[in-house]
Amino acid sequence: MKLELRGITKRFGSLVANENVSLLVQPGEIHCLLGENGAGKSTLMNVLYGLYHADAGEILLDDKVVNFAGPGDAMAAGIGMVHQHFMLIPVFTVAENVILGHEPTKFGGVLDMAAARVKVREISDQFGFDLDPDAIVGDLPVGVQQRVEIVKALISNAQILIFDEPTAVLTPQETDELMAIMKALRERGTAIVFITHKLREVKEVADKITVLRLGKVVGEASPQESANELASMMVGRAVDLEIVKEPAKLGDASFVVSGLSALSHNGTKVLDDVSFEIHKGEILVIAGVQGNGQTELTEAILGLQYKATGSIKLNGEELLGKRVKQVLDMGVGFVPEDRTEDGLVADFTIAENLMLDRADRKPFVSGLNLRLAYLREFATKLVQQYDVRTQSIETKAGKLSGGNQQKVVLARELSRELKLFVASQPTRGLDVGSIEFVHEQIVKTRNSGLPVLIVATELDEAVQLGDRIAVMYRGKIVGIVPSTTPRQVLGQMMAGISA
Ligand SMILES: Nc1ncnc2c1ncn2[C@@H]1O[C@H](COP(=O)(O)OP(=O)(O)OP(=O)(O)O)[C@@H](O)[C@H]1O
Ligand SMILES: [Mg+2]
Repeated sequence: MKLELRGITKRFGSLVANENVSLLVQPGEIHCLLGENGAGKSTLMNVLYGLYHADAGEILLDDKVVNFAGPGDAMAAGIGMVHQHFMLIPVFTVAENVILGHEPTKFGGVLDMAAARVKVREISDQFGFDLDPDAIVGDLPVGVQQRVEIVKALISNAQILIFDEPTAVLTPQETDELMAIMKALRERGTAIVFITHKLREVKEVADKITVLRLGKVVGEASPQESANELASMMVGRAVDLEIVKEPAKLGDASFVVSGLSALSHNGTKVLDDVSFEIHKGEILVIAGVQGNGQTELTEAILGLQYKATGSIKLNGEELLGKRVKQVLDMGVGFVPEDRTEDGLVADFTIAENLMLDRADRKPFVSGLNLRLAYLREFATKLVQQYDVRTQSIETKAGKLSGGNQQKVVLARELSRELKLFVASQPTRGLDVGSIEFVHEQIVKTRNSGLPVLIVATELDEAVQLGDRIAVMYRGKIVGIVPSTTPRQVLGQMMAGISA
């Protein structure tokens, strides 16, 4: 089915998120939608999917104008969407999630579980998904959850599929698998809109590219265009895709983890005798396939692994056994893996989020009063500095685009007085311009003489950002190597082979 958007305009109050946007996607085409954080990509797709109503413009399917009152209508018309933030219900099974939101009549008037389970198996087999219809969604790795979303779209015979940043949360291997799925769908004549910030992916699968900036189409590009060219089209200026950093000037090893172990709730070892140290002025990257203990390691540092044993010392002081608030107060900056879940309070304003853990002290309070003027100035400065795209610091954080939410968390954590900076996938979901900026900030933090710990799943980022790389596999560190180590060796280490 051919998809055409004509002159779509969507406003939120006085903010114009989409302005006169037109887009044409042919059947059997993978159409990449590029643009910086807040450019209006998700908004446009939400209009197409019936989640938002456009203020102007029209949607045409095979040259016929359609009007969607909600996602139900869009689905019925053959449009499926895999969202940037999953819309699955974790306590439900795969089959239950797949049925959810579909017209009940599709399955014979009642929610026909039996039919749904058969369908899930069928589609799963077709694409080699290996999905168990009865598995509880919350227990599945992210990459598999995403397949549930894909099955959910395909079960109603979607002819048009929207993927909103599907790879932001995937491991490199899961990403490759998703690319293969998209190509298979293209073969079947599905029209695909694919949103991503990763130019390598664009170059691999795109048939056509449309670039949005500040809500408007700035142009089409061909996949043959160089990554640098695409990057500058997106952000409107030249971007350094490589990190430039001077050699590390190492101070003392001020952050020392030794013999750290922890068990998961079902008794498996999630951290197994982990030891490493980070010097002042050094970036240590923890690399590895997601799910090999990286999350538990950062949790242990922050005080969230209550039963961890061993020792975590910052400037000689033990962190293990302290509460989160105490750890933060000791000068640990922390960017969590899941910003919407742990990094932000969606219902608080941007300004409130920027001082979240400091609201009880100077300079934010004086006596019993919150110093509103100071807070406003502080928030305004950070929003400018980090280029958070928002109309106001009073906007609720939950209304920001994905990448801009991440920038708020980074701004808050890097603006505190720090002794250690820890970040889990700090550039996940960011556009190329913002990645450049965040990398600069991290290098600056390191140059200021702080120990920095970064969890990265992308080898590119690990190699560029790290002074040294520690590879984790099944809760253990299999080796700590210089960042000049050949990728092939790093790859082997990530598969569990010691250096
Ligand atoms: N429900 C909403 N209410 C108010 N403003 C919104 C809402 N949804 C989006 N916006 C604003 O519209 C603009 C476009 O946001 P959108 O989420 O479409 O960006 P995006 O291109 O998907 O960015 P990202 O790459 O960060 O995901 C942003 O300024 C955002 O703050
Ligand atoms: Mg988005």
